[in-house]
Amino acid sequence: MASSLEDVQTTDLMSELLRRMKCASKPDKRLILIGPPGSGKGTQSPIIKDEYCLCHLATGDMLRAAVAAKTPLGIKAKEAMNKGELVSDDLVVGIIDEAMKKPSCQKGFILDGFPRTVVQAEKLDEMLDKRGAKIDKVLNFAIDDAILEERITGRWIHASSGRSYHTKFAPPKAPGVDDVTGEPLMQRKDDTAEVLKSRLEAFHRQTEPVIDYYVKKGVVAHLPAEKPPKEVTSEVQKVLSS
Ligand code: AP5
Repeated sequence: MASSLEDVQTTDLMSELLRRMKCASKPDKRLILIGPPGSGKGTQSPIIKDEYCLCHLATGDMLRAAVAAKTPLGIKAKEAMNKGELVSDDLVVGIIDEAMKKPSCQKGFILDGFPRTVVQAEKLDEMLDKRGAKIDKVLNFAIDDAILEERITGRWIHASSGRSYHTKFAPPKAPGVDDVTGEPLMQRKDDTAEVLKSRLEAFHRQTEPVIDYYVKKGVVAHLPAEKPPKEVTSEVQKVLSS
């Protein structure tokens, strides 16, 4: 560990130190972002993560990485994902339980795309009970289905970082190329109008009951997710600072 730190540039070490000092004064937060495909969860998560020094745990990103690496988990998940169906509860519960142990989750986390079934929500409660913790807020990205096809079919992503762009709403500086690395962008296999129908069906049937589960606990904030990204960010900030 020490030898690898010696190889890190002083400026990088200093900026990490400053970031950690700033983070020490932030309140702990355990958040869930819930909403249909394309509602903006992945767009808002990095902003909230940086503001509150949380870790961003996106089950979709983790599963796509496992599929790309052809791990046993990825092999099991691939077929359901390509069809726009949910993968089994056991697979995702296991990866979240493991991921929450990361040091970057010390001040809390953003769960993006999890829990997606009531069974997953109950398992999450069990995991948090064991840690003596609870969910502080569930942000419900409320939006009409009709808006989502244009968002989903126009999305391009940088596979290794998860950075997401949109040909119309958030274009990269140069077409088809990641702003930070200059590497080519790609489209997700499930980002077609056809697969979107199954993903929305899964959302309404299996995930909407999760919103009710948390409404009963009094922790849900409803966000107008059809607004432009910056306005959604302001709404998120209002909810999280209240
Ligand atoms: P996952 O990767 O979680 O996909 P998803 O929930 O369908 O969500 P998306 O990533 O499509 O949407 P987003 O809300 O993040 O939108 P974004 O911000 O990018 O899951 C994929 C699959 O994995 C599932 O189908 C399932 O098979 C499996 N899976 C994952 N988790 C699971 C679980 N817990 N259990 C079982 N299976 C699981 O925005 C979309 C586009 O719109 C972008 O291009 C963006 O630039 C643009 N945009 C964003 N906000 C705005 C705005 N306000 N105005 C205009 N454009 C905007």
